[in-house]
Amino acid sequence: MWHEFQISVTMSLKRFGVSLEENLLNDLDKIVERKKFPNRSQAIRFLVSQSKVEDKWEDGADVAGAIVIVYDHHKKDLQTKSTDIQHDYHGLILSVQHVHLDHNNCLETIAVKGKAFQLTELADRLIALKGIKHGKLVMSACS
Ligand code: NI
Repeated sequence: MWHEFQISVTMSLKRFGVSLEENLLNDLDKIVERKKFPNRSQAIRFLVSQSKVEDKWEDGADVAGAIVIVYDHHKKDLQTKSTDIQHDYHGLILSVQHVHLDHNNCLETIAVKGKAFQLTELADRLIALKGIKHGKLVMSACS
């Protein structure tokens, strides 16, 4: 069964009809619910822009992002290794913010810009370090 609905796109809003099978529409509604979008249009906007970002990753265009890591600063070896890796990729790193979360834990946010595969490689190397408690790379398109 197909479902018809209208979506709008911001700026100068254009409306158009979309036909979706029921299961896909259910999936869309789940996305709306999970990500707390106000409506289906907003969810579709998000999905389109996400797809655009992924295209840019594949095109090898520059993307910007952030690597967030949480670690125990008592593991001195870890900090040295992390710094060594960051120096290896200094061309990708825009800034590093270090926050002392509590007595043991540090939160580092590393702003990066470069090709998606390079950012992924850097993030993978950092996150794989022994003693990293949590690590994540977020990428978005620069343009
Ligand atoms: Ni610290």
